[in-house]
Amino acid sequence: MAVHAGRDGLTEQGVHAVPIDLSTTAPLPSVHDGGQAYEHMATGGIHVEGQSTVYQRLWNPTVARFEQGVAVLEDAPEAVAFATGMAALSAVLLAIVAGGKKHVVAVRPLYGGTDHVLASGILGTEVTFAAADGVRAALRPDTGLVIVETPANPSLELVDIARLVAAADGVPVLVDNTFASPVLQQPLRHGAAMVLHSATKFLGGHGDAMGGVIAAAPDWTTRLRQIRAVTGGILTPWPAYLLHRGLATLPVRVRAQQDSAHKVAAALAEHQLVTAVRYPGLPECDPLGLVGSQMSGPGSLMAFEVSTAEHAERIPSAVRMITHAVSLGGIDTLIQHPAGLTHRPVSVDAKPHARLLRLSVGLEGSADIVADLMQAIESTR
Ligand SMILES: Cc1ncc(COP(=O)(O)O)c(C=O)c1O
Repeated sequence: MAVHAGRDGLTEQGVHAVPIDLSTTAPLPSVHDGGQAYEHMATGGIHVEGQSTVYQRLWNPTVARFEQGVAVLEDAPEAVAFATGMAALSAVLLAIVAGGKKHVVAVRPLYGGTDHVLASGILGTEVTFAAADGVRAALRPDTGLVIVETPANPSLELVDIARLVAAADGVPVLVDNTFASPVLQQPLRHGAAMVLHSATKFLGGHGDAMGGVIAAAPDWTTRLRQIRAVTGGILTPWPAYLLHRGLATLPVRVRAQQDSAHKVAAALAEHQLVTAVRYPGLPECDPLGLVGSQMSGPGSLMAFEVSTAEHAERIPSAVRMITHAVSLGGIDTLIQHPAGLTHRPVSVDAKPHARLLRLSVGLEGSADIVADLMQAIESTR
């Protein structure tokens, strides 16, 4: 499915690779027909075969192919793609506010940018942060959305999606599936209403294209396409091509990176200078037994702690093959200090510990990754 999804009709077009359509505007057959197509798509409709696509902010065939690919992999009726993951989240929050229910219950921990947009209320939402078992108590009559990440950024906590959906009592649940990817977890199957990806991460997988996507049923995707058309957050064709191309190798990359991550986590867990390892593949990090049921595998993200914040801050500057950089899910291993970087905007009470480092395991040989980590940990003690 990952190889073929979104590639319909290529043979009929006489091509083998997906064409990149860079047109910002499209020929109109007549004012009447063009106007009808415009109105249909500007209010969230899907482009009708044979009609003009009118304008790239409304529709683009290369973007649509990526959306089809994600929908298939997430087992979702549809998907809507945005310029970034944050643009996708913003569209969801605007949809909630426009629907008259502006309260959001957010299960912490969350990616720092997500935490920031919710805590600041900058898009007109009000938030109650809760632990997974506190969601029901946090609901209000005007709650329009429950948001969760599982595994969570940066400390890899797992949440039982089906149990959360039950606790949400009919309020739609959005699962940020960026860390797991649809290869390991398909949240709609567990009752989530929407799945969000920072496509910048595993879906693209090569660290060279930004994007965001929401997979959901048409009651949501229609609203999101309308918001996207009005606010202009659509994904553009070049990154859409790259992200779509990334989908073809997604399962292979995810499994290979996961194989290495097992070994890296085991090596870290044995190291005397490492005080804790957070990796869903370690039994103590999966108390609910979700790996093997909700998730088919633990993935390739992990976090680990050393005994002082000062040591943690020195380690990323000492790696040689690994790159000290934010982002994750790509072909190469990245390390970063969440409290100082990705989670900098998070309030003090919810900020990750300054002793914690996050690691995204790439496709290098696991022995090379382990050796580089060990020399960085030991040389900076
Ligand atoms: C879990 C998660 N969700 C959402 C985002 C935001 O995505 P983007 O950077 O593509 O806007 C990120 C970015 O790091 C993330 O890690």
